[in-house]
Amino acid sequence: MARSLTQLELLIELEPIAEQNVNRHLSMAKDWNPHEYVPWELGRNFAAMNGVNWDPEQSKLTEVAKAAMITNLLTEDNLPSYHREIAENFSQDGAWGTWVGRWTAEENRHGIVIRDYLVVTRGVDPVALEQARMIHMTNGYNSAHLIKKHANRDYVQADAGFMHSVAYVTFQELATRVSHRNTGKVCNDPLADRMLQRIAADENLHMIFYRDMCAAALDLSPDQAMEAITNIVLGFQMPGLGMPNFRRNGVLMAKHGVYDLRQHLEEVLLPNLKKWNIFERTDFGAVGDHCRNRLGEFVEKLRADVVRFEEQRDRALAREARRTGRPPVLVS
Ligand SMILES: [Fe+2]
Ligand SMILES: [Fe+2]
Repeated sequence: MARSLTQLELLIELEPIAEQNVNRHLSMAKDWNPHEYVPWELGRNFAAMNGVNWDPEQSKLTEVAKAAMITNLLTEDNLPSYHREIAENFSQDGAWGTWVGRWTAEENRHGIVIRDYLVVTRGVDPVALEQARMIHMTNGYNSAHLIKKHANRDYVQADAGFMHSVAYVTFQELATRVSHRNTGKVCNDPLADRMLQRIAADENLHMIFYRDMCAAALDLSPDQAMEAITNIVLGFQMPGLGMPNFRRNGVLMAKHGVYDLRQHLEEVLLPNLKKWNIFERTDFGAVGDHCRNRLGEFVEKLRADVVRFEEQRDRALAREARRTGRPPVLVS
């Protein structure tokens, strides 16, 4: 059986491919300005500057839209934690360093523009938002802890490292793309939709970079990469884990189709697994084969869970519609 490569060997072997992918990214990425996505004419002072403080009546967003916006923004706010993860695992040398810097700068736009939009339009309580940001950022994010906590213990390596990071961010970027895109739809405001479409397009390009690096890692060290992918898929948690009201907001988002189990399976997990040819590959050894089997069983179970979840959701939405007299909101 081929031995696992060290973190340093992986980074050195994959650096030329990282360079190609950074160059492709730079040729495709669009420069845009956050201030051009915010309706500034709606803004006014708060009480500290002789204006009026936030009141729930001022918000045009539904509870679902608020929950989705807050979850997405707090996730973007936690950028320093993700930067640390990526910088530690990808290194800051050569093409890796170029990517880490560029990716971080692009991500920062997302938090800037969503916050500006929400504060100017008075979409959410800015004081509660700030308190939640403080809690969420102080907690930080550490993928190694999450992987150890949630993944199947048989497969957990002592050090999460590059392979786990690149697999995780591939799924995470695609998940945030889906979440931003559907949040735009649920806001019922063409400006929010335009802004979130812009962000979702960035997330898609980020996903492509990580997905293609993961593909290269699979070719270089198939068993090692497969083990990491299985760990990540089995233990996947959205990056918002630990933020205030994460469960409540996550349930609301799932219930109304902003990010639900079917989207997670069909729009996030399966497209990447297909792109990597996971179920057709012939280059796995015993470990890779074993992990692939576990992954296959997990996907089958998820298919059944999706059906069960949607049956329950349909009943809950119908009950709610009867109670409120309004048709259920379901994004997709
Ligand atoms: Fe982002
Ligand atoms: Fe991103």
